[in-house]
Amino acid sequence: MKIKVFAGQDELDRYAAGLLLHIVSQQERPVLGLATGSTPIGIYQAMVQAASQSGLSFRHATTYNLDEYVGLAPDHEQSYRYYMEKHLFRHLDIPASQTHIPDGRAVDLQAECRRYDAMLAAQPLDVQLLGIGHNGHIGFNEPAEELRSGTHVVQLKEETRAANARFFNHQDEVPDRALTMGVGSILKAKQIILVARGADKAQIVKQALQGPITTRVPASLLQTHAHVTVLLDRDAGREWMEDGTKVEMAHS
Ligand code: PGA
Repeated sequence: MKIKVFAGQDELDRYAAGLLLHIVSQQERPVLGLATGSTPIGIYQAMVQAASQSGLSFRHATTYNLDEYVGLAPDHEQSYRYYMEKHLFRHLDIPASQTHIPDGRAVDLQAECRRYDAMLAAQPLDVQLLGIGHNGHIGFNEPAEELRSGTHVVQLKEETRAANARFFNHQDEVPDRALTMGVGSILKAKQIILVARGADKAQIVKQALQGPITTRVPASLLQTHAHVTVLLDRDAGREWMEDGTKVEMAHS
């Protein structure tokens, strides 16, 4: 596992964008696993900027997002489809039919999960971009006795709804269910890029990556993956620097 700590947000964004764009430029049919939340916004901006400067085309790329709220329409401002269109897709030349997000409004949610898994099986992810929740969730795989491998419906924890309430008018408006890729689908990605920013993530990142591997901290399963790159800002990375663990410092 490679861990890099960045002095500034811009450096982190550009570095992460570079990793993703490298895959797009190298692969004939690149398949990117994407994430939402506050963490990737700057990365997507950096991708859009670099792609437009270099003329890199996404025409042959396919994307799969980790998750979506149950019940929100694609044009709902808090749906993850809306988020992805706003921050990334509409700025690239990627065909809409090649951008996949679980359909949280499907009439049969179980069938939607099976459909998503079948597509993922046919198009393995070259890379999966991940944020991490304060409770160690990845995607919407919440801490539990057992974790699911494939795409499934989850009941969101109150702490997750509370954390996401900042995007809604009121916490009651945050959906209480979501569709998410499972940890098995995430771990099947050839490469994983985990990004965390801010002091409030420092402890959970440390616990997930150095503590016991447990379903109580879903991100701890990333320790079993052979190709994980962890990108942290200075605040999220401070615990690593303080305990002397070898981390790479990136300076501008
Ligand atoms: P955030 O969410 O990027 O908004 O902090 C990360 C997550 O919950 O996975």
